[in-house]
Amino acid sequence: MAKSKTVYMCANCGADSSKWIGRCPSCGEWNTYVEEIFVKTKKETVSFTDTPSRPELISEITSSNKRRIITGLKEIDRILGGGLVPGSLILFGGEPGIGKSTLALQLAMKMDGNKVLYVSGEESGEQIRLRSDRLKDSNDSCYIYNETSLENILNQSEKIKPAILIIDSIQTINTSTIESSAGSISQVRESAVLLLKYAKQTGIPVLIIGHITKDGNLAGPKILEHIVDVVLQFEGDNNYIYRILRAVKNRFGSTNELGIYEMLSNGLREVSNPSEMFINQHNEDLSGIAIAATIDGNRPFMIETQSLVSSAVYGTPQRSSTGFDIKRLNMLLAVLEKRAGFRLGIKDVFLNIAGGLKVTDPAIDMSVISAVLSSNLDIPISKKLCFAGETGLSGEIRPVSHINQRIKEAGKLGFDKIFISKYNRKVDIGKPNIDIVETGKVEDLVKKLFG
Ligand code: TYD
Ligand code: MG
Repeated sequence: MAKSKTVYMCANCGADSSKWIGRCPSCGEWNTYVEEIFVKTKKETVSFTDTPSRPELISEITSSNKRRIITGLKEIDRILGGGLVPGSLILFGGEPGIGKSTLALQLAMKMDGNKVLYVSGEESGEQIRLRSDRLKDSNDSCYIYNETSLENILNQSEKIKPAILIIDSIQTINTSTIESSAGSISQVRESAVLLLKYAKQTGIPVLIIGHITKDGNLAGPKILEHIVDVVLQFEGDNNYIYRILRAVKNRFGSTNELGIYEMLSNGLREVSNPSEMFINQHNEDLSGIAIAATIDGNRPFMIETQSLVSSAVYGTPQRSSTGFDIKRLNMLLAVLEKRAGFRLGIKDVFLNIAGGLKVTDPAIDMSVISAVLSSNLDIPISKKLCFAGETGLSGEIRPVSHINQRIKEAGKLGFDKIFISKYNRKVDIGKPNIDIVETGKVEDLVKKLFG
């Protein structure tokens, strides 16, 4: 009889312990240990066997780079570094409802003429059919398979020999090699390891979908990141239509690429001109709005920062921020208090990044400051101005990376002026069709903007 034992596993990093512990000694997270019944059975039910391998000379190893499979979904091909690498294991993570199944199905439909095995443990074939009818592409060689047993899935995949195997989602799959329930940490990890072995042995690329919850509590993707070759992450706010797909890990390419999508009634559509989407097209100049020239990955785009400053009603003024780090906002407000003489301590400050985006690019600082000041003074900033600069604690405007790309993008979109740090290294960009205004300090910026 198989021996069973109870272990406690960290849902964040997968470390185990014989006792429950409050704080994981491995990753430092609190309250992540969950109980798992772990039964290791001896029998190997997976049909493929290990072939003994031998060391090879590096010069004799053929690069699979040349054999990349072009999926036809331009953004995905680009993010992957030029198509799917045979035998790669890709994890596609994101919060529930963000559009993972939709994008995976679009990928399956786009690969027309190639066999695709789409395994769903979540939706019925009929549901998937209904969904595919809404998408504009179709693929007659796409197989839908409603199954959760990994052994059955691999057996069918061996018969069909698809160009890509899609698993939706890893949390619903279970393998009989261990006997804990589907979705548990050990099941998820074991299934992923078997899928990796399968991908490497057959050369079939495997795409696994994994849910992540906001608090990261669910068993899954975090511990898979070590196992897989590529981690694609789908981000966005369910209340908005924009989604950002980025590679957070890529063994075959850069992690600087990202794709922007919008969720429409007929699936996800690639957005080629993101800058124009995140700037609201209002005609009159309104106070409290400034536009930042930001970069995410390698993509420059212009983002509107909106601010509202009003008199505080309560003793403690309110600070609220959407899409921008609240601590950073507090820091910037402290800098304004000290350097620009604004008594923001008696004001409520609200900040919002348009389009439901989250921005971590420090170059947005100058735009945030300008928006706050503009709302406080109730003086609009011309829509023809944009900003790219970080703010330091002493109120200096600090240089930012990729300044050329930012200037070019702003010029291309018809802005008149871009405010940058005077410390930004000048790189020759020919004759930019935009005025460059250099500032060194917050005081200087205030003077230039509001006189
Ligand atoms: P889904 O792909 O099921 O999300 P996930 O697999 O990440 O959980 O997408 C869910 C949402 O997408 C759903 O709320 C409806 C919306 N949607 C559209 O807006 N247009 C479409 O064409 C499709 C298929 C879905
Ligand atoms: Mg889904």
